[in-house]
Amino acid sequence: MQKTKPLTIENRGDILYVDYPEVYDAFASVVKKPTMMEALKKHFDLQDKVVLDIGSGAGDSTFQLSTISKAVIGLEIEDNMRSIALKSMEEMNIQNVSFKKGTALQMELPDQSVDVSVAITLPLFIEDEIRMYVKETIRVTKPGGMVINLGIAPYSYGGDLAEIILGPSKITEEDTEGVVDRILRDEFGFDYFDYEALQTFDSVEHMVSTYGFIFGQQVIDYIRINNRNHVNWTYRVHYLKK
Ligand SMILES: C[S@@+](CC[C@H](N)C(=O)[O-])C[C@H]1O[C@@H](n2cnc3c(N)ncnc32)[C@H](O)[C@@H]1O
Repeated sequence: MQKTKPLTIENRGDILYVDYPEVYDAFASVVKKPTMMEALKKHFDLQDKVVLDIGSGAGDSTFQLSTISKAVIGLEIEDNMRSIALKSMEEMNIQNVSFKKGTALQMELPDQSVDVSVAITLPLFIEDEIRMYVKETIRVTKPGGMVINLGIAPYSYGGDLAEIILGPSKITEEDTEGVVDRILRDEFGFDYFDYEALQTFDSVEHMVSTYGFIFGQQVIDYIRINNRNHVNWTYRVHYLKK
């Protein structure tokens, strides 16, 4: 029996990528300004580089990276996400991308096999798992290459609607650092910069059915009451030259 799709999964990231990969894909496909590639291109030269995209999901980040590099390997743990990526790759006839099943924590890739490794919004929260991933991403990157981690800034969960999603008491202005910052910077020597991006949906209901579906009823009510169709994200990009 087919299960009924709920109105929202209330921040259940664990089921999003397994049960609703098409909703994540629809959400991720809504363009942000600047795009992630515009932000990355400003700081890094990926032309002629073989790039590893860790946690490649439904392929949005992989396909975007393929437009500014020589070739991209997408590494993704969830079969349902990878299936969408493979289908899109075929439909768009993209030639310089391949996808691999696997985990960021133990990559089946040889040492020093890619020029650049990138993770775009890879959801790791457990300290030891973050350390395992960082060691792996450094291991597979060639000397002279670059290791990049693009994530949502600690105070920007769900973008500028974080307070609506989490409640005002959970967010403070001083909340500028998270566990990822401490591990990447203090333990592994990464630098970072932040940038802002505006994501605009076609309509209020388009935002409700994608962003609202992921982030919960509180924010769905807020979006509707305020006739809102956009969200402003702050991203944090950690990078390490190997
Ligand atoms: C927020 S999505 C980002 C997808 C893609 N990078 C993008 O920007 O469109 C995070 C992805 O990371 C995947 N993921 C989570 N943990 C992972 C792990 N340990 N190894 C590989 N992929 C993982 C999830 O299944 C999901 O597809």
